[in-house]
Amino acid sequence: MIYLDNAASTQIHEDVLNSMLPYLKEQYGNASSIHRYGRLARKAIEKARKQIALLINAEPSEILFTSGGTESNNTALRGISGNGASKQIVTSLIEHDAILEPCKQLAKNGVDIDYLPVDKFGMVDPLELENHLSEKTSLVSIMFGNNEVGSVQKISEIAKICNDRKIPFHTDAVQAVGKIPIDVKELGIDLLSISSHKLHGPKGIGALFIKNGIKIDPVILGGGQEHGLRSGTENVANIVGFGKACEIAKNNLDENRAYVTKLRDILIEKVLHEIPQVTLNGDPKSRLPNNAHFTFLGVNGEDLIIKLDEYGIAASTGSACSVNTQRASHVLQAMGFSHEQITGSLRLTMGIFNKEKEIEETVIALKKIVEELRSFSPFKEKYSFSKV
Ligand SMILES: Cc1ncc(COP(=O)(O)O)c(C=O)c1O
Repeated sequence: MIYLDNAASTQIHEDVLNSMLPYLKEQYGNASSIHRYGRLARKAIEKARKQIALLINAEPSEILFTSGGTESNNTALRGISGNGASKQIVTSLIEHDAILEPCKQLAKNGVDIDYLPVDKFGMVDPLELENHLSEKTSLVSIMFGNNEVGSVQKISEIAKICNDRKIPFHTDAVQAVGKIPIDVKELGIDLLSISSHKLHGPKGIGALFIKNGIKIDPVILGGGQEHGLRSGTENVANIVGFGKACEIAKNNLDENRAYVTKLRDILIEKVLHEIPQVTLNGDPKSRLPNNAHFTFLGVNGEDLIIKLDEYGIAASTGSACSVNTQRASHVLQAMGFSHEQITGSLRLTMGIFNKEKEIEETVIALKKIVEELRSFSPFKEKYSFSKV
């Protein structure tokens, strides 16, 4: 198999797995217990908190463990809104459903939600943000890197606008953390969502960075763990694995980023040159190192994925959630794509375990599959596809 769906999830790193095993076998204590089992678990959690903080240049006290990116986003939006201050949230049209769905719910409870548009590259214009801010704005939430088309927003400009007005700024950085350098202090970020399984850690664990001084209300109530902000017995093994994954990502960030970018650029170059009537979607420069997103005119992206799977290649059309909800990509719609352009889209996301040879094999398979699918295409006459 050639795995090119690293934006959906990543292979767990061997060292991450090994770091977790003792906490699943011998060291199974509850971190709230006073005895040594409990103390060992607590120590492991606090070590992981430091490892995560280091990756984004935060303080350990600013890291709140959650069950993943979805919960981190919900906690940021609903936590800020819960404290009574929230009258208006400004976000964008291309956010992940883990932002859009809680926003819909908050709108029902009387919060105004403003959705910023994006340009054809999936970029938010920071000047546009200024026009949407008002005295009642209690939070701005703009994602760091888009999970479908990979566009990386002008986060420092956006954060500055919010900082100048003392409006808390949250970013869903699930696709960006561990792939590009992120310094929350330098960038002026107040809240940031991370998910472990996107950076070679286990699933079901993540974190919300909450800058010291930013007040949020808990979304999950109970035994008061995580300083009362997120109750529930801590998942020690997952937390330890997540911490290890962040440590590995931090220590290898430059090298991994260069390597994955190289693979991505080879793939983009070959696809654009060797297959006719293909476009690259998303911002050509300001994009995640691991993301290549194309439209193959006259082809159905889902057919492409099924055929690629027959060749042993794992790919995607975009967000895993759009598969569950069976609707056309809201991201591509916001970018002004036509129905045909949306239908023909394919996302290939690389990772540190991919090899250059796999990229070459993928392009060869893609050439064959696209040609075959186009020969049955209802748009055959319309586009008169040249032979690959
Ligand atoms: C941008 C973005 N935000 C949030 C999530 C949800 O993260 P999790 O799977 O950890 O709940 C994802 C997952 O695909 C994502 O890509």
